[in-house]
Amino acid sequence: MDIARIELSDLALEKGGTRILRGIDLAIAKGEFVAVIGASGAGKTSLLRCINALVPDYSGRVLIDGKDTAGLSHQQLRRGIGYVLQNIGLFPHRTVAENIGMPSRIAGKRRHDEARVAELLEMMELPADMARRYPAELSGGQAQRVAIARALYSRPALMLLDEPFGALDPATRASLGEAYRKRHDEAGLTSVMVTHDVAEALALADRVLVMHGGKAIAFAPPAQLAASDDAAVRALVDPPLRQARALLDLKGGA
Ligand SMILES: Nc1ncnc2c1ncn2[C@@H]1O[C@H](COP(=O)(O)OP(=O)(O)OP(=O)(O)O)[C@@H](O)[C@H]1O
Ligand SMILES: [Mg+2]
Repeated sequence: MDIARIELSDLALEKGGTRILRGIDLAIAKGEFVAVIGASGAGKTSLLRCINALVPDYSGRVLIDGKDTAGLSHQQLRRGIGYVLQNIGLFPHRTVAENIGMPSRIAGKRRHDEARVAELLEMMELPADMARRYPAELSGGQAQRVAIARALYSRPALMLLDEPFGALDPATRASLGEAYRKRHDEAGLTSVMVTHDVAEALALADRVLVMHGGKAIAFAPPAQLAASDDAAVRALVDPPLRQARALLDLKGGA
Protein backbone atom coordinates (compact mmCIF):
# COMPACT_ATOMS: atom_id res chain seq x y z
CA MET A 1 0.00 0.00 0.00
CA ASP A 2 1.47 3.34 -1.00
CA ILE A 3 0.94 6.10 1.50
CA ALA A 4 1.19 9.64 0.25
CA ARG A 5 -0.43 11.81 2.86
CA ILE A 6 -1.49 11.44 6.47
CA GLU A 7 -4.04 13.83 7.86
CA LEU A 8 -5.30 14.08 11.41
CA SER A 9 -8.49 16.03 11.84
CA ASP A 10 -9.71 17.08 15.29
CA LEU A 11 -8.19 13.90 16.72
CA ALA A 12 -8.95 13.32 20.40
CA LEU A 13 -8.59 10.42 22.81
CA GLU A 14 -9.97 9.97 26.28
CA LYS A 15 -9.29 7.13 28.72
CA GLY A 16 -11.02 6.78 32.08
CA GLY A 17 -12.00 10.44 32.12
CA THR A 18 -8.48 11.64 31.26
CA ARG A 19 -7.98 13.53 28.05
CA ILE A 20 -4.91 12.00 26.45
CA LEU A 21 -5.10 13.69 23.05
CA ARG A 22 -7.07 16.78 22.16
CA GLY A 23 -7.97 18.67 19.01
CA ILE A 24 -5.05 17.55 16.88
CA ASP A 25 -5.13 18.86 13.31
CA LEU A 26 -2.14 18.28 11.11
CA ALA A 27 -1.01 16.86 7.79
CA ILE A 28 2.19 15.01 6.91
CA ALA A 29 3.26 14.74 3.28
CA LYS A 30 4.94 11.81 1.54
CA GLY A 31 8.68 11.86 2.11
CA GLU A 32 8.56 14.00 5.22
CA PHE A 33 10.65 13.14 8.27
CA VAL A 34 8.73 14.28 11.34
CA ALA A 35 10.14 14.12 14.87
CA VAL A 36 7.72 14.18 17.79
CA ILE A 37 8.96 15.63 21.08
CA GLY A 38 7.32 16.43 24.40
CA ALA A 39 7.46 15.49 28.07
CA SER A 40 6.66 12.02 29.32
CA GLY A 41 2.89 11.52 29.28
CA ALA A 42 2.32 14.24 26.64
CA GLY A 43 0.60 11.73 24.33
CA LYS A 44 3.34 10.85 21.81
CA THR A 45 2.87 7.07 21.88
CA SER A 46 -0.92 7.49 21.88
CA LEU A 47 -0.63 9.60 18.72
CA LEU A 48 1.36 6.90 16.90
CA ARG A 49 -1.13 4.26 18.04
CA CYS A 50 -4.01 6.28 16.59
CA ILE A 51 -2.21 6.61 13.23
CA ASN A 52 -1.61 2.84 13.20
CA ALA A 53 -5.27 2.08 14.07
CA LEU A 54 -4.27 0.39 17.32
CA VAL A 55 -6.68 2.57 19.30
CA PRO A 56 -10.32 1.94 18.44
CA ASP A 57 -11.98 4.63 20.52
CA TYR A 58 -10.57 7.97 19.41
CA SER A 59 -12.73 10.75 18.09
CA GLY A 60 -11.99 12.84 15.01
CA ARG A 61 -10.44 11.38 11.90
CA VAL A 62 -7.22 9.77 10.73
CA LEU A 63 -7.01 9.99 6.95
CA ILE A 64 -4.50 8.23 4.76
CA ASP A 65 -4.55 9.53 1.20
CA GLY A 66 -7.91 11.07 1.98
CA LYS A 67 -9.41 7.79 3.19
CA ASP A 68 -10.57 7.42 6.78
CA THR A 69 -8.55 4.56 8.33
CA ALA A 70 -11.67 3.54 10.26
CA GLY A 71 -12.99 2.23 6.95
CA LEU A 72 -9.75 0.53 5.80
CA SER A 73 -8.75 -3.08 6.46
CA HIS A 74 -6.34 -2.99 9.40
CA GLN A 75 -4.31 -5.81 7.89
CA GLN A 76 -3.82 -3.87 4.67
CA LEU A 77 -3.05 -0.69 6.59
CA ARG A 78 -0.40 -2.33 8.77
CA ARG A 79 1.27 -3.85 5.74
CA GLY A 80 2.01 -0.33 4.57
CA ILE A 81 3.22 0.82 7.99
CA GLY A 82 6.40 -0.19 9.84
CA TYR A 83 6.03 0.30 13.58
CA VAL A 84 8.96 0.32 16.00
CA LEU A 85 7.55 -0.06 19.51
CA GLN A 86 8.86 1.94 22.47
CA ASN A 87 9.50 -1.31 24.39
CA ILE A 88 11.11 -3.14 21.41
CA GLY A 89 8.72 -6.15 21.52
CA LEU A 90 10.92 -8.89 20.02
CA PHE A 91 9.68 -12.48 20.24
CA PRO A 92 11.97 -14.13 22.83
CA HIS A 93 11.79 -17.68 21.42
CA ARG A 94 12.59 -16.63 17.85
CA THR A 95 16.05 -15.95 16.49
CA VAL A 96 17.07 -12.49 15.31
CA ALA A 97 16.52 -13.59 11.66
CA GLU A 98 13.06 -14.97 12.47
CA ASN A 99 12.19 -11.79 14.33
CA ILE A 100 13.26 -9.59 11.42
CA GLY A 101 11.39 -11.82 8.95
CA MET A 102 8.28 -12.01 11.15
CA PRO A 103 6.21 -9.81 8.79
CA SER A 104 6.51 -12.49 6.08
CA ARG A 105 5.21 -15.14 8.49
CA ILE A 106 2.35 -12.85 9.50
CA ALA A 107 1.55 -12.47 5.80
CA GLY A 108 1.24 -16.29 5.60
CA LYS A 109 4.63 -17.26 4.10
CA ARG A 110 6.51 -20.21 5.61
CA ARG A 111 10.01 -18.78 5.31
CA HIS A 112 11.43 -15.32 5.44
CA ASP A 113 13.73 -13.91 2.78
CA GLU A 114 17.30 -14.59 4.04
CA ALA A 115 18.85 -12.07 1.64
CA ARG A 116 16.52 -9.33 2.89
CA VAL A 117 17.39 -10.19 6.52
CA ALA A 118 21.12 -10.03 5.71
CA GLU A 119 20.66 -6.69 3.95
CA LEU A 120 18.79 -5.25 6.95
CA LEU A 121 21.38 -6.49 9.45
CA GLU A 122 24.06 -4.74 7.42
CA MET A 123 21.98 -1.59 7.17
CA MET A 124 21.55 -1.53 10.96
CA GLU A 125 25.30 -2.05 11.43
CA LEU A 126 24.86 -5.48 13.00
CA PRO A 127 27.14 -8.46 12.23
CA ALA A 128 25.70 -11.11 9.87
CA ASP A 129 26.15 -13.95 12.37
CA MET A 130 23.84 -12.20 14.81
CA ALA A 131 20.98 -13.64 12.73
CA ARG A 132 21.15 -16.91 14.68
CA ARG A 133 21.06 -15.36 18.16
CA TYR A 134 18.04 -14.95 20.42
CA PRO A 135 16.83 -11.59 21.81
CA ALA A 136 18.07 -12.43 25.34
CA GLU A 137 21.60 -12.65 23.87
CA LEU A 138 21.54 -9.05 22.59
CA SER A 139 22.38 -5.76 24.27
CA GLY A 140 19.53 -3.25 24.60
CA GLY A 141 20.87 -1.21 21.68
CA GLN A 142 21.29 -4.26 19.44
CA ALA A 143 17.70 -5.33 20.21
CA GLN A 144 16.51 -1.86 19.22
CA ARG A 145 18.29 -2.14 15.89
CA VAL A 146 16.70 -5.54 15.28
CA ALA A 147 13.29 -3.96 15.97
CA ILE A 148 13.98 -1.25 13.36
CA ALA A 149 15.12 -3.92 10.87
CA ARG A 150 11.89 -5.84 11.44
CA ALA A 151 9.79 -2.72 10.85
CA LEU A 152 11.63 -2.11 7.55
CA TYR A 153 11.42 -5.75 6.36
CA SER A 154 8.25 -5.41 4.25
CA ARG A 155 9.38 -2.14 2.67
CA PRO A 156 6.59 -0.05 4.23
CA ALA A 157 5.79 3.41 2.88
CA LEU A 158 5.31 4.87 6.35
CA MET A 159 7.50 4.28 9.40
CA LEU A 160 6.30 5.05 12.92
CA LEU A 161 9.22 4.93 15.35
CA ASP A 162 8.71 5.30 19.09
CA GLU A 163 12.04 6.24 20.69
CA PRO A 164 13.93 3.85 18.43
CA PHE A 165 17.36 4.88 19.70
CA GLY A 166 16.52 5.14 23.41
CA ALA A 167 18.91 2.46 24.67
CA LEU A 168 21.91 3.46 22.57
CA ASP A 169 25.11 5.20 23.65
CA PRO A 170 25.40 8.76 22.24
CA ALA A 171 27.94 7.93 19.51
CA THR A 172 26.01 4.91 18.18
CA ARG A 173 22.81 6.88 18.51
CA ALA A 174 24.10 9.69 16.33
CA SER A 175 25.53 7.34 13.72
CA LEU A 176 22.39 5.19 13.55
CA GLY A 177 20.16 8.28 13.46
CA GLU A 178 22.08 9.58 10.45
CA ALA A 179 22.04 6.13 8.83
CA TYR A 180 18.28 5.91 9.31
CA ARG A 181 17.76 9.40 7.88
CA LYS A 182 19.77 8.35 4.80
CA ARG A 183 17.66 5.21 4.48
CA HIS A 184 14.52 7.36 4.76
CA ASP A 185 15.71 9.60 1.91
CA GLU A 186 16.88 6.75 -0.36
CA ALA A 187 13.74 4.66 0.09
CA GLY A 188 11.40 7.65 -0.18
CA LEU A 189 9.90 6.80 3.20
CA THR A 190 7.61 8.92 5.32
CA SER A 191 8.79 8.75 8.94
CA VAL A 192 7.26 9.85 12.23
CA MET A 193 9.79 9.40 15.01
CA VAL A 194 9.20 10.03 18.70
CA THR A 195 12.33 11.04 20.57
CA HIS A 196 13.22 12.47 23.96
CA ASP A 197 16.42 13.82 22.48
CA VAL A 198 15.52 17.33 21.28
CA ALA A 199 18.92 17.85 19.66
CA GLU A 200 18.41 14.65 17.67
CA ALA A 201 14.95 15.85 16.59
CA LEU A 202 16.29 19.23 15.46
CA ALA A 203 19.23 17.64 13.63
CA LEU A 204 17.35 14.89 11.78
CA ALA A 205 13.81 16.04 11.07
CA ASP A 206 12.22 18.15 8.34
CA ARG A 207 9.58 19.23 10.83
CA VAL A 208 9.24 18.82 14.57
CA LEU A 209 5.90 18.25 16.27
CA VAL A 210 5.76 19.38 19.89
CA MET A 211 3.22 17.64 22.12
CA HIS A 212 2.17 19.15 25.44
CA GLY A 213 -0.65 17.81 27.63
CA GLY A 214 -2.21 15.92 24.72
CA LYS A 215 -2.13 18.92 22.37
CA ALA A 216 0.05 19.59 19.36
CA ILE A 217 1.42 22.99 20.39
CA ALA A 218 3.90 23.44 17.52
CA PHE A 219 4.66 21.79 14.19
CA ALA A 220 7.49 23.55 12.43
CA PRO A 221 10.89 23.14 10.73
CA PRO A 222 13.81 22.99 13.21
CA ALA A 223 15.04 26.54 12.55
CA GLN A 224 11.60 27.99 13.12
CA LEU A 225 11.14 25.96 16.30
CA ALA A 226 14.51 27.10 17.63
CA ALA A 227 13.27 30.70 17.25
CA SER A 228 9.82 30.10 18.81
CA ASP A 229 8.69 32.38 21.64
CA ASP A 230 6.21 29.88 23.10
CA ALA A 231 7.17 29.15 26.73
CA ALA A 232 6.48 25.39 26.54
CA VAL A 233 8.51 25.09 23.32
CA ARG A 234 11.37 27.13 24.83
CA ALA A 235 11.38 24.84 27.90
CA LEU A 236 12.14 21.91 25.60
CA VAL A 237 14.45 23.59 23.12
CA ASP A 238 16.55 25.86 25.35
CA PRO A 239 18.46 23.23 27.39
CA PRO A 240 19.96 21.44 24.35
CA LEU A 241 20.72 24.80 22.66
CA ARG A 242 22.54 26.01 25.80
CA GLN A 243 24.41 22.74 25.97
CA ALA A 244 25.44 22.99 22.33
CA ARG A 245 26.69 26.56 22.85
CA ALA A 246 28.65 25.54 25.94
CA LEU A 247 30.28 22.70 24.00
CA LEU A 248 31.17 25.00 21.10
CA ASP A 249 32.72 27.49 23.59
CA LEU A 250 34.75 24.64 25.03
CA LYS A 251 35.99 23.69 21.59
CA GLY A 252 36.77 27.33 20.73
CA GLY A 253 38.74 27.78 23.96
CA ALA A 254 40.85 24.65 23.45
N1 LIG B 1 -4.82 2.68 28.01
C1 LIG B 1 -4.69 3.75 28.80
N2 LIG B 1 -5.54 3.98 29.82
C2 LIG B 1 -5.43 5.07 30.60
N3 LIG B 1 -4.48 6.02 30.43
C3 LIG B 1 -3.61 5.85 29.43
C4 LIG B 1 -3.67 4.72 28.55
N4 LIG B 1 -2.66 4.82 27.65
C5 LIG B 1 -2.01 5.96 27.96
N5 LIG B 1 -2.58 6.57 29.02
C6 LIG B 1 -2.15 7.85 29.62
O1 LIG B 1 -2.12 8.82 28.58
C7 LIG B 1 -1.06 9.74 28.75
C8 LIG B 1 -0.21 9.77 27.50
O2 LIG B 1 0.45 8.52 27.36
P1 LIG B 1 1.50 8.24 26.19
O3 LIG B 1 1.97 6.85 26.37
O4 LIG B 1 0.89 8.60 24.91
O5 LIG B 1 2.64 9.31 26.58
P2 LIG B 1 4.07 9.54 25.92
O6 LIG B 1 4.12 10.96 25.48
O7 LIG B 1 4.35 8.51 24.91
O8 LIG B 1 5.04 9.38 27.19
P3 LIG B 1 6.51 8.73 27.31
O9 LIG B 1 7.46 9.79 26.84
O10 LIG B 1 6.67 8.47 28.78
O11 LIG B 1 6.55 7.49 26.51
C9 LIG B 1 -0.33 9.29 30.00
O12 LIG B 1 -0.75 10.07 31.07
C10 LIG B 1 -0.76 7.83 30.18
O13 LIG B 1 -0.76 7.46 31.54
MG1 LIG C 1 5.69 6.94 24.82
